[in-house]
Amino acid sequence: MPRKPHPPRSSRGLACDSILAIDFGTSNSTVGYPTPSGPVLVALEEDHVTIPSAIFFNTEDECVQFGRSAIDAYTQHYEGRLLRALKSVLGSSLIEETTPVGNHRIAFKDIIGLFLRHLKAKAEAQVGKSITAVMLGRPVHFVDDDEARDQTAQNQLEAIARSCGFKQVDFQYEPIAAALDYEARVDAEELALIADLGGGTADISIVRVSPAHHLKVDRKADVLANAGIHIGGTDYDKRLSLNQVMPHLGYKTHQRLHPARELPSPVYFDLATWHRIVLLNDNSTATLLKEIHHLADQPALVHRLARVIREQTGHKLAGDVETAKIALSDMERATLALPYIDDDLAIEFSQAAFEQATRSETQKIAASIHECLNQAGVPPSSITTLFLTGGTSAIPSVRAACQAAVPNARLVEGDRFGSVGIGLTIHAGLRANS
Ligand SMILES: Nc1ncnc2c1ncn2[C@@H]1O[C@H](COP(=O)(O)OP(=O)(O)OP(=O)(O)O)[C@@H](O)[C@H]1O
Ligand SMILES: [Mg+2]
Repeated sequence: MPRKPHPPRSSRGLACDSILAIDFGTSNSTVGYPTPSGPVLVALEEDHVTIPSAIFFNTEDECVQFGRSAIDAYTQHYEGRLLRALKSVLGSSLIEETTPVGNHRIAFKDIIGLFLRHLKAKAEAQVGKSITAVMLGRPVHFVDDDEARDQTAQNQLEAIARSCGFKQVDFQYEPIAAALDYEARVDAEELALIADLGGGTADISIVRVSPAHHLKVDRKADVLANAGIHIGGTDYDKRLSLNQVMPHLGYKTHQRLHPARELPSPVYFDLATWHRIVLLNDNSTATLLKEIHHLADQPALVHRLARVIREQTGHKLAGDVETAKIALSDMERATLALPYIDDDLAIEFSQAAFEQATRSETQKIAASIHECLNQAGVPPSSITTLFLTGGTSAIPSVRAACQAAVPNARLVEGDRFGSVGIGLTIHAGLRANS
């Protein structure tokens, strides 16, 4: 359906192509800018308007690569360091830490800065001028149940954006942005529950969407509630990995001399957690691995773990687990061959086992929807539309849980990876012109 045009207005002194809207996602990012004829997403890699939130420090070619090209360089075994899911570092103690790259160390916040600067440069090249105002998306909670740390996370992102040359930095909740995208196509007022289920967080808003209000800047009266939880696709990957893959690398096996004790687990948790994989490149891991190997009653499995870390295939493994997870959205079964870990290692996954293993994550997302309904003070039956976006909304059990929470609602799906970016751009245009 064609998007409704947005008339150019300019009382805030910003021409509409003088502000960017950045959806810095845990897994994928977009950049948009408003134009008189509607929001435009920037082509970030060839024709792609989404870019994986990945960065590769290629120490062999002495360059920094982003997105698909970062992942490709890593997959082609260029020497260097791959980092992914860096948004998850915001609000955690890691943000102040550094990680080794070649023969120096670089701070996590500076790595996020490099990524945002790359997005800014891509957009400026497309628009043809320098842009110093940005509307950044943010989850409803960067950090669960801790307002101070949550605010700190936003402040960290703002400081990083400023360090990239943005002088005016505003934020909007990601699900409100998705609501604005949805609203561009409604013909009558609806009470919509918007669920943006991404890589790092599940974000929910209940919004009265209406064609009559679509171009209003102040929508406080139409936003009934927002809720969110730090659970997203990367947590589903982690759960699948810990449940079905890491045991083949010794996780949960026992100690030779103390058969009642399991092997230490932190290294397995790091290997199953996208944004922590890079930490395993530190020298201390080699010592830890020797200790684990010494303790193990099944040292052959720990050999596999050591091989993954030595050969730096942790991201490849996480990517393969993610691919298996995605396959399970459409198929009952999936097989993952892992010859780079052991010649004949192949793991069978089933949708039923995946649903079972991730039940608690899915229940927490459903609980967040109920919390949002409670905050809004509306009964579930009054929600007329369930608007789903974000990659994790493709998981059948997650969709079913969302639908069960608002049984009378009509299910509508947005552009899974572009809705938030489009909505942020609509919001940026309205703010710039207000
Ligand atoms: N078909 C699918 N089935 C299941 N999961 C999927 C599918 N497609 C993508 N995903 C998952 O969706 C997640 C990425 O979604 P998305 O791009 O919406 O997240 P994001 O915007 O980067 O994250 P966030 O908004 O939480 O910061 C990844 O975890 C990916 O594995
Ligand atoms: Mg997102």
